[in-house]
Amino acid sequence: MALRDIVIVGEDILRAKAKVVTEFDDNLSQLIDDMAETMYHNEGAGLAAPQVSILKRVVVIDVGNGLVELVNPKITKQDNPIICDEGCLSVPGKRGKVLRPQNLTVEAYDRHGKKVKYKAEGYFAQAVSHELDHLDGILYIDKLIDDKLEDVKPNN
Ligand code: NI
Repeated sequence: MALRDIVIVGEDILRAKAKVVTEFDDNLSQLIDDMAETMYHNEGAGLAAPQVSILKRVVVIDVGNGLVELVNPKITKQDNPIICDEGCLSVPGKRGKVLRPQNLTVEAYDRHGKKVKYKAEGYFAQAVSHELDHLDGILYIDKLIDDKLEDVKPNN
């Protein structure tokens, strides 16, 4: 495993649409392992492949209940939008408020190409929604409900 560099807002790759994964091979496993390591190292709750300069539809999430890997994820149901406080490893030192579904269902594949399905709620649903946006070049700062991007205190 290896840490990968996180791309910061302003780079074009964060605005591109990621490509569907067609090969479930060692490269994919390596990418997922590296993304997980990079996410944990930076104390993030999720990371999408374009954030490490790879334009593929791959996401890792851990909201405290273990690592979730999503390849070619699709949200098939979503409900109950609520206001969420949010940050992003690609927008360091900032937070803002966005609307996210409180409940959703996401279907995807694991690294071996096996279908997986999660019914997510609360913070998990928020993270899935946030990370899947990255795959379409969308950042939470595009969706702020009040146009306010707040500075995070250094030790927060
Ligand atoms: Ni993000």
